[in-house]
Amino acid sequence: MSGEKIKAIYGTRDILPVEADIWRKIVTAVSKTADEYNYGFIHTPIFEATELFSRGIGEASDVVTKEMYTFRDQGDRSLTLRPEGTASVVRSYIEHSMGSRQGLVKVWYAGPMFRQERPQAGRFRQFYQFGFEAIGSLDPSIDAEIIAANYNIMESLGIDDKKLYVNSIGMPEERKSHKKAFSDFIKPILDEFCVDCKKRFMTNPLRMFDCKREECIALLKDAPVMFDYLSAENRKHFDTVCEFLNHAGISYELDKKMVRGLDYYTRTAWEIKCDKLGSQDAISGGGRYDLLVEQLGGKPTPGIGFAAGIERVMLAMPEKEPEGSRKNFGFFIVVRDSRYKKDAFGLVMKIRKLGLPADMDYLGRSLKAQMKQADKSGFCYSIILAEDEMARGKAVLRNMVDSRQFEIELNGLLKVKNAIQLGEMIGRK
Ligand code: HAM
Repeated sequence: MSGEKIKAIYGTRDILPVEADIWRKIVTAVSKTADEYNYGFIHTPIFEATELFSRGIGEASDVVTKEMYTFRDQGDRSLTLRPEGTASVVRSYIEHSMGSRQGLVKVWYAGPMFRQERPQAGRFRQFYQFGFEAIGSLDPSIDAEIIAANYNIMESLGIDDKKLYVNSIGMPEERKSHKKAFSDFIKPILDEFCVDCKKRFMTNPLRMFDCKREECIALLKDAPVMFDYLSAENRKHFDTVCEFLNHAGISYELDKKMVRGLDYYTRTAWEIKCDKLGSQDAISGGGRYDLLVEQLGGKPTPGIGFAAGIERVMLAMPEKEPEGSRKNFGFFIVVRDSRYKKDAFGLVMKIRKLGLPADMDYLGRSLKAQMKQADKSGFCYSIILAEDEMARGKAVLRNMVDSRQFEIELNGLLKVKNAIQLGEMIGRK
C-alpha cells in the first residue's frame, strides 16, 4: 500500500545517528559529573496530572497559560506532557517519602520535555533536557555545589564562551514591597511598553524584564530590582553562595534583572548563557524552589536545581567533525569474493565478542563499494578477506586513516583478549 509521506510534527525533529553520537557524549559527560557529585539517576513519567504543573509551575506562567500539551485520556482525566522536570521530581520525592530516608536527596534526569512555543533556532516543541535537583537543604553550600555541577558540565563539554549569571529573587514577603515600588515606577510610563509587557504588568510584572524589545529594555533601565529589596537574611544567603563559588574558582556575574520563567523560584537563581546562540542564548537555568514541596502537598522542604537544553548545549559546543571524518576504533570486514561471506560473518561476530565494534556488507556490494562503505562506517580499520591470504590463514588489515596495510594472522587476531592489546598488535599509536 502506498500513500502520502508522513512528516514529523512541526517543532519536533529526528536526531539522526551522527548527531545522536554527540548527544550520547553529552549525556555520558553529564552522567560522569553526576557520579562525581553523588547524584542518583531518576526517571519520571513523560505525562502527569495537569494539576501538577498548573500548581507547581504557576497558573500565570507562560508555560501553563500558553505552552502545555494537555489532553484528556479515555478515562476523561486531564493529562499533560511534561514541560519540565522539577515538578515531577518533587511529586516523586513526596510520593515515595524520599526525605524520610535521606536528609538531602540528590537526583539527576535526562529526557524529552514538551512546550508549545513558536519554533526557532534553539527552540523546539519537543526538546531534551538534563537536570539536577537537590531537595532538603537550605544551606548556601548546596546552592554553590549545584551551580558548580552545572558550570563544570559545560566546561567538560568544551563550551568556553559561556557566562554564568546569578541573582537572588527573594521570597514572596520581600516581593510585596518590591512589587509596589516596581508598579509605581512603571505606571506613569506603561503606555510606552509593548503589548506583551502591558499584559505581563497585569499578570506577572517581573517577567517584563524578560522582554527582548530594545525600547522596553531601555524603559526598564532604572526600574527597581528585587535584589535591592532582599531581607538581611536572604542577602547573607546570597553573599555566602558567592563566597563558596569564589572558593570553587567559578566565575560569575551578578545580573539583578534576571528573572526566571517559572513561578516556583525563590532566593538564588542563575542562568548560563552563550552569545553564539542568538536570541535563545540560555543553555541552562535553575534556582531555589523552597516552597514547592509544600505547594505540592509535602512537608515544608527547601529545594534547588537546574536544567539545560541539550539542543542548545550542542549548538554551543565547539564545531563538530563532518560526517565520515570520525574514526572510531573498529573493523569493517570486506570480502573480495562472495564465497568468504560466511568467514566474514564469523569474524564480525568474534570481534564483537572481544567487545569491539565490527560490521560488514549486507547488500552483496562490489569490492569497491564495500571499501567505500568501510570508509563511511567511520571505523579505523578494514579487514580484507581475499583468496591469496585466506589460503594461508591470513588477511589484509588496512588502516583507514593513513591507508597503510598489514598482513595479519586471522587466528592471531582472534586470540587477542582486549582492545588495547589488539590496538598495539596492529600498530595503533
Ligand atoms: P527553564 O529555564 O524553563 O528551566 O529550561 C531550562 C533550559 O531548557 C533552558 O535554559 C533551555 O536551554 C532549555 N529549553 C527550555 N525551553 C526550550 C525549548 N522550547 N526548546 C529548546 N530548549 C529549551 C526549567 O525547565 C527548570 N525545570 C529548571 C530547574 C530545575 N529549576 C530548578 N530545577
